[in-house]
Amino acid sequence: MPKLPNLLFAVSEAHPLIKTGGLADVAYSLTAALKPHVHEVRLVLPAYRAALAQAGHLEPIATLHVAGPDAPVRILEGDIPGSGVKVWLVDAPFYFDRDGGPYSDTHGADWPDNAARFAVFARAIVEIACGRAGISWRPDVVHCNDWQTGLVPALLALEPVRPATVFTLHNLAYQGLFDVDVFQALALPAALWAPEALEFHGRVSFLKGGLIFADRLTTVSPTYAKEIQTPAFGYGLEGLLAHRARHLTGILNGADYGVWDPAHDPLIAQHYGPHTLHLKAVNKDVLQRQLGLPQISDAPLLGLIGRLVEQKGIDLLLAALPALLKHPLQIALLGSGEKHIEQALLNAAVRHPRQIAVHIGYSEELAHRIEAGADMFLMPSRFEPCGLNQLYSLRYGTVPIVRRTGGLADSVTDTNAAHLKAGTATGFVFDDATPAALLHTLERALALFRQPAHWRKVMACGMQQDFSWHRNARAYLELYREAQAERAATPAA
Ligand code: ADP
Ligand code: GLC
Repeated sequence: MPKLPNLLFAVSEAHPLIKTGGLADVAYSLTAALKPHVHEVRLVLPAYRAALAQAGHLEPIATLHVAGPDAPVRILEGDIPGSGVKVWLVDAPFYFDRDGGPYSDTHGADWPDNAARFAVFARAIVEIACGRAGISWRPDVVHCNDWQTGLVPALLALEPVRPATVFTLHNLAYQGLFDVDVFQALALPAALWAPEALEFHGRVSFLKGGLIFADRLTTVSPTYAKEIQTPAFGYGLEGLLAHRARHLTGILNGADYGVWDPAHDPLIAQHYGPHTLHLKAVNKDVLQRQLGLPQISDAPLLGLIGRLVEQKGIDLLLAALPALLKHPLQIALLGSGEKHIEQALLNAAVRHPRQIAVHIGYSEELAHRIEAGADMFLMPSRFEPCGLNQLYSLRYGTVPIVRRTGGLADSVTDTNAAHLKAGTATGFVFDDATPAALLHTLERALALFRQPAHWRKVMACGMQQDFSWHRNARAYLELYREAQAERAATPAA
């Protein structure tokens, strides 16, 4: 039996230090779930200005030189608030100490030096992983996530002695693609300029670094693992992914019920659980008041929270709205993203103030309140690698209405007659990415809503589902063990 691994978890966002989406939730909750089962875990993250402000006490533990920045890079050690997982912040102020988001400026435009920023991050990780950072701790496994860490497995593959690498793909739509001159500007090793390395149709793909060179690949649901091996979801990488299928696993994300559970959520007005369902109505009332919607208790309230990008299928909702709003329902929407989607939603809210409330922006508190106050939760995603909000919605008794794709397909059971009878129905699922299919499914949901006994059964069944990490964190542990054992058996290059 190999020893428990030392794990370095490399990621570009982590709740509660910095978050744009589900990746941050996964970084927080997966490392917390793994902590008791590995020897030691360290989470490594860029020292963004916003993360520094949230991090509490930090201690510099190393100073290292990597290609790129003029000044040395410091490693600052702290704890992730809440989980107590040790975090190392890669402090390269020129690249990370700025206002704005982790990937884009305050206006939403990508930082023009993103390639350089995440190359510095990757190089610092490689130094740590190879024991060259002056830190007396070395990982057995480096677990990388998404394109921002894609250079790590590629650069490590060139090292004679290295830890095992696992790469998790959270979203194939984001690939870290840059023009060819970036390759020279970053002085990347010439060996990596090849179609079977970082080159992708004449450009540099950071993502390919992970997809090609990691010892093991995972993605965040079994269905998405299959989908990305097809042209419809593969962005031209489906052949590569199919080629690596033996080493590619789909592991469904978990939810952290320490943060997302209506029984003890500090951000909601009224706690409730499967046996006190009637108390949920208090949260609905508070939400309607907060959002300026009429306080009608029996009007079905639909919630939606998310990044307003094409992936999320908001256009389907917008197209279905005229027919949908003929029903006496209300919609509470929280999100930010592409300006034209934001504007279209705001316009709809202006036209229908008694039915639609739109909050453009980012609010952790409102997100919890929508989960607690809404009756149904909409996720009409065109694709969804996993999705976390449907998992949270299930726990909050907020019946999810989702498209059958990725992790949505793997976590929500449609309320058809058979499932309703068997007591396994947890939500509503539709197949076609069309306004008509969304509308038809919403109307099915609205019809059931008018039958409270049935509706409560679906709510309660959803609330009793267990999507906590305890089962799926094991799948990662097995993978670490496998990759670690394989590495140990490989002679130094
Ligand atoms: P994705 O990672 O594609 O954005 P997920 O469903 O996996 O989608 O995760 C989204 C996470 O981000 C959830 O925790 C959700 O509540 C949160 N979130 C997204 N947009 C906002 C927002 N505008 N305000 C607050 N939380 C948000
Ligand atoms: C991505 C995906 C989302 C997934 C999240 C965490 O942002 O879009 O579906 O839940 O990563 O893995």
